[in-house]
Parts: sequence; structure tokens; C-alpha cells
Amino acid sequence: MFKRWENLSEILLPEVENFCNTYNEREGILNEIEEFSQKEKVPILLPVSAALLRLIVSILKPKRVLEIGTGLGYSTLSIYFGYREAEITTVDSNRKRLEKAEEFFERAGAPIKTVLSDGLEYMRELLSREESFDFIFVDSVKSEYPFFNYKVLALLSDGGVAVFDNVLFRGYVAGRDYDKKYERGVKLLRKFLEDVKKYPNFEATLIPVGDGLLFLKQKELSYEKV
Ligand SMILES: C[S@@+](CC[C@H](N)C(=O)[O-])C[C@H]1O[C@@H](n2cnc3c(N)ncnc32)[C@H](O)[C@@H]1O
Repeated sequence: MFKRWENLSEILLPEVENFCNTYNEREGILNEIEEFSQKEKVPILLPVSAALLRLIVSILKPKRVLEIGTGLGYSTLSIYFGYREAEITTVDSNRKRLEKAEEFFERAGAPIKTVLSDGLEYMRELLSREESFDFIFVDSVKSEYPFFNYKVLALLSDGGVAVFDNVLFRGYVAGRDYDKKYERGVKLLRKFLEDVKKYPNFEATLIPVGDGLLFLKQKELSYEKV
């Protein structure tokens, strides 16, 4: 049974989360990354969140995908297996992690473009080249999210979708008691969740799966008239 090396996300009951984490069939390489993550204590996207991401990507079939926070490439490969024709670019500021992810990509035969850079800086570069993406997944440092959202939305193509992980931060953001040391992170995430609701052309949907996934998509024009 999949057990994380650290706490479960703490949003769902542990037994429910464990049941869901192991329910979905997946490629052996994803199981291997899960094992590596536990052995080496490197965080990855929770399998239940990865399964949802994969499902969404398989429905949306985005041509161009951008990921900020490659880590071990677990989420990247989940996206790739969801839609193998997507052109995927993934960015991480940690060389060691990126190199490990590249090993997994090679073994999976996945032609994923990796970029060693700070996410914000790379997004600036992409905007200056007027690039756009149909699907953007952000799984980096939560406290940086309030500085990412404008860039992420500016990079989305028409009809594009952005997803941010960890936005509920073990439920603390939603009011669960937390240690004082998390105060800054919780406040920043709460502000981020409020800010994204103010973008007039986007709708924000918060899903309590894993550690909390936030979906941002353009509003349907008819939505406002109802
Ligand atoms: C939770 S891990 C990502 C896990 C990954 N999505 C997976 O499922 O394997 C977060 C990653 O974000 C990277 N990171 C943190 N801040 C970043 C930044 N400003 N720009 C780019 N990457 C960043 C870290 O180096 C780390 O590898």
C-alpha cells in the first residue's frame, strides 16, 4: 500500500486517501518514482492528485503544457501518460532533482523538455517571447504562488487551464489549527486564493483532493448572463 514518508495530505481521512492513492492503475515507472520518493524522502504530487491531473489532461488534450516544479517528474509523466502528444516543458530550480527526473523521462521514452531555472524568471522569458500554453501546472514553493498567478494567467492560451497544487496546505488554509511557524505560508495562500477570484475573466475552482488543487479557467461568456 502506498504510504507517504511524511504525513498524508491530512485533508481526507488517511484510510480513504490511501485507498484512492492505490486505486488507479498506472505505469511501472510511476510506481518506481513513488518508491524512490519514499526511500529518498523527496516530495512528489500525491498519486490521487496525479490521477485527477491525468484524467483532466486526457480529456482536454492540451497541445502545449508548462509545468513549474518538476521534482522527480512524477506529475510530468502523469500528464504525459494522460496525453502523449502534448508538447511538455517542465521547469525546476534544483539541478539534482531535474537530472533525476530526466533519467525517468528517458526510461519512459517521454520527449519532455526540461529547463533549469527559477520558475518566475522563466515565465518572464516565455512572456517576452509571446509564448502561450494550453495547460499549466504549478507545484513549487507555495509561498511563491501569489507572485506566480499573474504570469501564469498571462501565459494561458484562449480556453487554457491552470492548476496549482498544495493550495489548502494540510487544511490549514481552510481553518484547521496550525503551528505559528506556518503563519506566513497560510496567510500568503489565503491571499492568493482571494486574489485569483478577482480576475474578471477567470473562474477559480478549489478541489479538496491531495493537498488541495486549484483550477483556473476562462469564464464562459454565457456564464455572466445567467
Ligand atoms: C513538490 S516538488 C515537485 C514535485 C513534482 N511535481 C512531482 O510530482 O514529482 C517542488 C519542486 O519545486 C521546485 N521549486 C521550488 N521553487 C521553485 C522555483 N521558484 N522555480 C522552479 N522550481 C522551484 C523544487 O526544486 C522542487 O523540486
